[in-house]
Amino acid sequence: MHVLGIDIGGTGIKGAPVDIATGQLLTERKKILTPHPATPEAVTAVVKELAAQFDWSGVTGATFPGVITGGTVRTAANVDTAWIGTDAASAFGEAIGGEVTVLNDADAAGVAEMTFGAGKGERGTVLMLTFGTGVGSALFAGGVLVPNTEFGHIEIRGKDAEKRASEHAKETHDWGWKDWSERVEEYMEHMEALLSPDLIIVGGGISKDSDKWVPRLKGVRARIVPATMHNDAGIVGAAMAASGTATAR
Ligand code: BGC
Repeated sequence: MHVLGIDIGGTGIKGAPVDIATGQLLTERKKILTPHPATPEAVTAVVKELAAQFDWSGVTGATFPGVITGGTVRTAANVDTAWIGTDAASAFGEAIGGEVTVLNDADAAGVAEMTFGAGKGERGTVLMLTFGTGVGSALFAGGVLVPNTEFGHIEIRGKDAEKRASEHAKETHDWGWKDWSERVEEYMEHMEALLSPDLIIVGGGISKDSDKWVPRLKGVRARIVPATMHNDAGIVGAAMAASGTATAR
């Protein structure tokens, strides 16, 4: 089965048709810069344009960087607040002229990693954390996703955790690997105290440099591995969710 996957991020909106059985992109992905402000209308227009570039009106999945229930956006920590209460699935569906499934970005990345990437075959408690503009989370037990966990927003030292542990925070404060990884370690120790995961998968662009910071996270008991699907995880996970195969195998 072939499904169009679209990954909506703070800087770019990327998409490609995906072969659900293999998790492979069928063609090179296309990317359009995220409009600013990223209002529902502006982003929906980009989703429409991406689908048109692939001449696509079939089954489509899209990620969104917020809580999504029943296709509707419930939170918007790092995107335009006009999204809150918007039925994104219907808006995208009308724009494309087909059925669109929408899910949280970290959940999508987690689903892809659990099926084809770093979490393949893992049956214990697995926590995927994505480090980017915010910190996203996806929790799996026995391979099954608990959707819409928002562990990037637990409070540490009186602050929203993602304000200290995201890649964006590292850049904003100009923290080096040591300073930033100490904050990530403290964050993960909190998560470990709450969830006792067997495995933590770290994703987001900064996971490409995992050798610079993952070895420093010595206070964390769980195994920590970098994501392996990198930029494709959101696209593949969105497509899987839309095809109804989102339970990790
Ligand atoms: C949002 C999450 C999202 C994460 C990564 C957080 O600020 O609340 O829903 O998964 O950023 O984009």
